Amino acid sequence: MNYSVAIVGGDGIGPEVMAPAQDVLDAVGDKYGHVFNYVELEAGGRAIDSGGEPLPAETLEAAGRCDALLLGAVGGPKWDGLPGHLRPERALLGLRAGIGVFANLRPAALLPQLRAACPLKDEALVAGSDDGRPGFDLLIVRELTGGIYFGERGRSADGYSAWDTETYSVAEIERVLRTGYDAAAARRKKLCVVDKANVLESSRLWRETARAVAKDYPDIETSYLYVDNAAMQLIRAPGRFDVIVTSNLFGDILSDEASVLTGSIGMLASASLGSPSDPLAKNGRPMGMYEPIHGSAPDIAGQDIANPLASVLSAAMMLRYSFALEKEAAAVEAAVNAVLDQGFRTRDIAGFGGAGTGGRIVGTRAMGEAVLKAVEEG
Ligand code: IPM
Ligand code: MG
Repeated sequence: MNYSVAIVGGDGIGPEVMAPAQDVLDAVGDKYGHVFNYVELEAGGRAIDSGGEPLPAETLEAAGRCDALLLGAVGGPKWDGLPGHLRPERALLGLRAGIGVFANLRPAALLPQLRAACPLKDEALVAGSDDGRPGFDLLIVRELTGGIYFGERGRSADGYSAWDTETYSVAEIERVLRTGYDAAAARRKKLCVVDKANVLESSRLWRETARAVAKDYPDIETSYLYVDNAAMQLIRAPGRFDVIVTSNLFGDILSDEASVLTGSIGMLASASLGSPSDPLAKNGRPMGMYEPIHGSAPDIAGQDIANPLASVLSAAMMLRYSFALEKEAAAVEAAVNAVLDQGFRTRDIAGFGGAGTGGRIVGTRAMGEAVLKAVEEG
């Protein structure tokens, strides 16, 4: 089959980590008989520099025409002084809302090879685990096109106060919950709704909606946590979590926290999915946008030291969710596992606080080549 993939490399390390992901996709294509046609698009700081706006209309339209979208990262200090609506991050939010990808899946698991890069003690890693072995394997499902990111915001005329509003409708809460339940059904069948229902009215609506939706999923154990407690439990006993469903802002924060537990934010991939009944859905599958959760990391851009694994793993998620190529997705994940077994490490996953994770430190390109080779030989 032929697939069209929109590529937004973006800013900072974005293009550097996107290149290995494309190489790995091409290797998968050669091996399994698929062709990935890339459509390179501009967004973020780079688009501001060339045309004055973070998300050119052509980018959004072209992305919607493709079968899926792979994105590196946007933003950087060069554009930090711009007003909110002209910042590179607007491109990200505009793409997410524009192609309707309301459910953001962020898996975080502890790979045994990276145990020493995880800052937690064994006690915490054992506390919540099902099999008594240190580890965790969780999935954060973050609502992505609503809440405070998209609510009304402004400043008073005198400039001495400002507001951002958290607004959610039942429909918005319900559809992301259902994505979470479907994911939980294929995993360990536990779903935790994270909110701040002891204070926020919007969270009380989340909880009421969740209680109603939960009735449709009797096989899944539903639990509820306030976000402050959830932040603590993630560090005390991450193994207790399977699927976490939460709002846009809480999901943003908790996923960065979870990423550190995996060893590095450079390991976390994500898939953002729309609805299969959406006009942009392709062959009955929801529109999908795939990106590493790390940012543009301008401080290390252009130095060939960024970790490309989150980006490669995002491409694997695209194979799985947008193209239903499960075997191919699993092959990419196995290749990443193999290179970690072989001892390849980028700087960020070489160990926490001086604890080495073995192996040898390589750059972005060498890590990408190692994965490529592992796909070819796997
Ligand atoms: C993320 C990022 C973005 C977000 C930023 C860059 C706007 O932190 O994808 O988690 O807050 O959603
Ligand atoms: Mg974030």
